This record gives sequence, structure tokens and C-alpha cells, in this order.
Amino acid sequence: MRLTSFKGRLLFALITLIVLVLVGLGIIIGELVKSYYLNALHSRIEKEMNIVINQTEREPSFNELRSELFDELSDVLETRITILNEDTDIVYDSGQAVSDVNHDLMLDEIDQSLPGPSNGIVRFPADTDDTSFYYISNVQTGSESGYVVLAAAFDNLENVYRQIWLILAITLGAALGMIIYIGARITNQYTKPIESATEVAIQLAKGNYKARTFEDRADETGMLSNAINILARNLQEMVSEQSVQQDRLKTLIENMGSGLIMIDKQGYIVLVNRPFLNFFHSDLEDVLNESYVSVFKNKQVNALAEEVFLTEQRVRKQILIEEAFPQKHLEVYGAPIIGERSAWQGIVLVFHDISELKKLEQMRKDFVANVSHEVKTPITSIKGFTETLLDGAMNDKGALESFLQIIAKESDRLQMLIQDLLELSRVEQQGFKLNLGQVDIVETLNDVAVMLEQKADQKNASIQLDLETPLVIEGDADRLKQVFINLLTNALTYSYAGQDIVVKSKKLKNKIQLQFIDQGIGMEKEELSRIFERFYRVDKARSRNSGGTGLGLAIVKHIIEVHNGEIAVESEPEKGTVFTITLPIKVNK
Ligand SMILES: Nc1ncnc2c1ncn2[C@@H]1O[C@H](COP(=O)(O)OP(=O)(O)OP(=O)(O)O)[C@@H](O)[C@H]1O
Ligand SMILES: [Mg+2]
Repeated sequence: MRLTSFKGRLLFALITLIVLVLVGLGIIIGELVKSYYLNALHSRIEKEMNIVINQTEREPSFNELRSELFDELSDVLETRITILNEDTDIVYDSGQAVSDVNHDLMLDEIDQSLPGPSNGIVRFPADTDDTSFYYISNVQTGSESGYVVLAAAFDNLENVYRQIWLILAITLGAALGMIIYIGARITNQYTKPIESATEVAIQLAKGNYKARTFEDRADETGMLSNAINILARNLQEMVSEQSVQQDRLKTLIENMGSGLIMIDKQGYIVLVNRPFLNFFHSDLEDVLNESYVSVFKNKQVNALAEEVFLTEQRVRKQILIEEAFPQKHLEVYGAPIIGERSAWQGIVLVFHDISELKKLEQMRKDFVANVSHEVKTPITSIKGFTETLLDGAMNDKGALESFLQIIAKESDRLQMLIQDLLELSRVEQQGFKLNLGQVDIVETLNDVAVMLEQKADQKNASIQLDLETPLVIEGDADRLKQVFINLLTNALTYSYAGQDIVVKSKKLKNKIQLQFIDQGIGMEKEELSRIFERFYRVDKARSRNSGGTGLGLAIVKHIIEVHNGEIAVESEPEKGTVFTITLPIKVNK
């Protein structure tokens, strides 16, 4: 691994350096010891030479040398002693220590360069190995002069050298071992924090921002560990911050309510949110990373995207998605994404669902059309009869009276219509406030029943109140009265003669329930969901004849809703209808 190789390299360099130094040191020490040893040997031999010269000088002449004495000396000194006369003839030779062949060679050499008395001791090697030497000196015996030659063989020199080297090798080897051991420990100490820091750095690079290293040292490596840990902490914070941001952005995109889609500059979809997928009933995997041309089945959407790509301008368009059920009106907003330094990165499309708005717009149009239509009929009739009267019909007393009655009836209708419209707009007004108080439902219903007695009598019917007492809730007395009048009037209007109407009550927890039951003409199931719409009448002709405007139930529904109540209807043609209203005892609970 990289780390061990770092440590290895460090150790290797250190060891090589130390080995080189130790070997160099060894060679120098070896040579020093060697030359010191050799010098010691030479000076010993030279001292011996002096002994031999002294001895020789004590002899009377070269021919009368006491050879046994010199034999003894040669033995003690372990050197070969040779004495030559002036003519370099051998007068004595102990014949030991140095081989004869070399000895003869040496004699030849003396012949060539005889040392004079002033030369002292002349030394030269006897062989190429430097293991034997000749020491030659001038000597006087009586009046004769001659030469003393000592030959010493340092046969054990090799052994001595080997020992020197062995000792050196052992000491230096031991030193090397110790240095390696200590060096390894020291490098370990320094490389361990670096290894750990490196390991953490690798983990960080891999994205594991939880990795931490030890901070147990106060030196540079400690600072490194500390810095790495700070880096890791900062990275972790940054990443968690980033993931929080990303989560927020994701939540925002997913929950923005509008569809969103991002297309890169190559035309591939890189981002899409759930509302978009819902609008187009598609799955994420069919959309993401696909070309937008293949994803947008709708030609208009495709064209819009193309337009943004071509013009690099913002585009806003309303589009009808017919494939969707129910049909959807979308407002599509397309914009180019221009990044930093005006780099073109693609486009973004936002889809707002404006179906509800469209529906409201349609309702408003319908409303205006309905109102005009409702107003037109009585006005036309009034205008027609007035013109007829003015044209001379007013002279006919019978016609005059009947026409005026029609005009009065139509004016009533108009008045009623306008009153209802005013009422509705007042109730629907934002910020409409109820005039809250304690309302005795039993009392109110009794009042309404009395008010409608005449109308009931005309139908030969009666209103029966089957109520629990007491029945008091919080509410707006006048508005609730209006609700009861509307519901009971409807029940009377849409019943046949002789069919009684019943109002029942039920107390629930925190609520009361009232049911308005008739056995009249009833309604088809399909109608029920629409009767609370403004101007909606089940059978237009019949209802208009009854003088209705189709606003009554719309007003009722509104009043119930501002009381936080609910209204429901059940009906069966020719069997009857039941309107059920539920009102809370306290409005704001
Ligand atoms: N009890 C009922 N039985 C049968 N049909 C009913 C009953 N109540 C309402 N309807 C139907 O619902 C329609 C809407 O009722 P709504 O009270 O809103 O209008 P309206 O009675 O025609 O006019 P007005 O605004 O004068 O009340 C009526 O035209 C009628 O066809
Ligand atoms: Mg009505």
C-alpha cells in the first residue's frame, strides 16, 4: 500500500545512508588499525634489529661469530637473522621464518642497493602480499663492516586483519540493528499520524464525512490531524447544510402545486415534479432523461417548448389538455435558463392548473347570461303590454285591468328577482357577518308556519312541526328564518294539493338536525347535485310558472355554510323530498 511504501522508502533511505556511513567508517577504522598494528610491528623489529646489531658489534670478527648465540636470538625474536660481510657473502644465517627462495632474491637486491652506515635501517617487503619484510642495516665488527638482515614473516597478519574486520563488522552490525530498530520506531511514530490522516483524507474523498483521526500529539503531525479533523467537520456541516437545502428545494418543487419540468440544452428532461406527472398521467421513469419531443404528446406544449428553445424568450400560453379527464386548462410558462456568464443551460416549463379559474369564469358568464335572461322575460312582457295599452287598448276597461294586473305581476317578479340577487350577493360577500344571538328554533319555525298558513291553505295542506323542546342554538335569527321560509315554500310549491309537510328535529352532540319532509313531486337523482346552483331549476317552465327564480336554494346553502352547518337532500320522483340541515349549537366550534 502507499502508506507502507512511504514508511518503507523513508526507512530504506535512512538505512542506506547509515550503512554507507558505517561501511565508510569501518574501512577508515580498519585501515587505521591496520597501519597502527603494522607500524607497531615494524618498530618492534627495528628495536630487535638494534639488539642484533649490538650483539654483532660485540663479536670479534665476522668469521668468529658465535652462531649459537645468534640461533638463540633468532629463536627468541622469531626472525630470520642473516649476517653478511663487506662482500655480501653470508657469514651467518639462522634459516628460519622466511623461505629460502625469497631470501636469495633479497640478497640480490642488497647487491644492487647497499645501505650505507648513515642510512640506518632499510626496510622493504619480501613478497607481494606484504606479509614478510626485510630489515637491513650496516654493522661494524672490529674493523670490518658488514650487513645485518632481519627477515620477519607476519604470517598471522591476515588473521589479525580478519579479526579487526570481524570485530568491526559485529559492532557496526549491532549499531546498524539498533539504529534500524530505533529508526523504525521513530518513523513509525511520525508516519502513524500521517497514515491515519491519509486514511481519513481517503475516506473524506470517498464521501464518508464522519471519519476522524486521533489528535494526541502537540507537534506538526498533531496539527495535521487537527486540520484534517476541522476539514472533515466543516465538510460534514457543509454537506448536511447542503442536504437540508436540497431537501427544502425538493419539498418546494414537489409541493409547489404547479407542474415543473426542466429540459437541458440537448432537449433531455432533467427534472420533473409530481404535479407535472399527475397533469399528464405519466410515470417518472418514462419522463426523466428522455427527450422532451417524445414525452410531450400534446402538440401545443411541444410547440411552446420549441419556441422557447428557438427564441430564448419567455413564453406564456394557455393550453387545453383534452387527453386529461376531466379536461384541464393549463397556463404554461416557459423560460430559458441562463446560467452564470450567460451560459445557455436549457429551459424550464411551469404548468399552472387554471381549470378552476376557467370554471369560475364560465360560471360568471353563465350568471350574467342567466340574470339577463331572467330580467328580459318580465321586461319584455311589461313593455309589450304597456305599448298595447298606449296603442289604444287602455280604452277597453276590461283589457286595461287585465293588462295592468299582468304588468303588476311581472313587476313583482322583477322585484323578487332583484331582491334575491341582492340577498345572494350580500350573503356571498366576503366578510359577511352574521348577526349572532340565541335562536329558539321551535319559536322561529312556528312563526314561519303561521306566515305560510295562507299558502298552505291554498294547497289544502298543512305544515306539521314535530320538534323536541327546547331547541336553542347560536345563529342569525333573520337568516335562519329565511332558510326555513325558502325550504317550506319549496316543499309547498313542489307538492300536489292535500300533501302535508312535516318538519322533524333531532339533537346530536353539539349539533341539531332538522328535516323538511314533503311527499311532493320529487326530483331525479341527477338533479340533486345541481339544485343549489344559482338559477338552476329542475323544470324551467314549471318552476317559472310557480314564480321561482332558482336562487332560493343557493341562498339557503350559503346561509347554512356561514353558520358552519351542512345541507343535504334526498329525493325520489313522485314520492317526495327530504332536505336535511345540520347546524352546530355554537357557530365557531
Ligand atoms: N321540495 C322540493 N321538491 C321538489 N323539487 C324541489 C324542491 N325544492 C326545490 N326543488 C327544485 O329545485 C329547484 C331550485 O329550487 P330553488 O328554491 O333554488 O328555486 P325556485 O324555488 O325555483 O325559486 P326561488 O328562488 O323562488 O326559490 C326548483 O326549481 C325545484 O325544481
Ligand atoms: Mg324556492
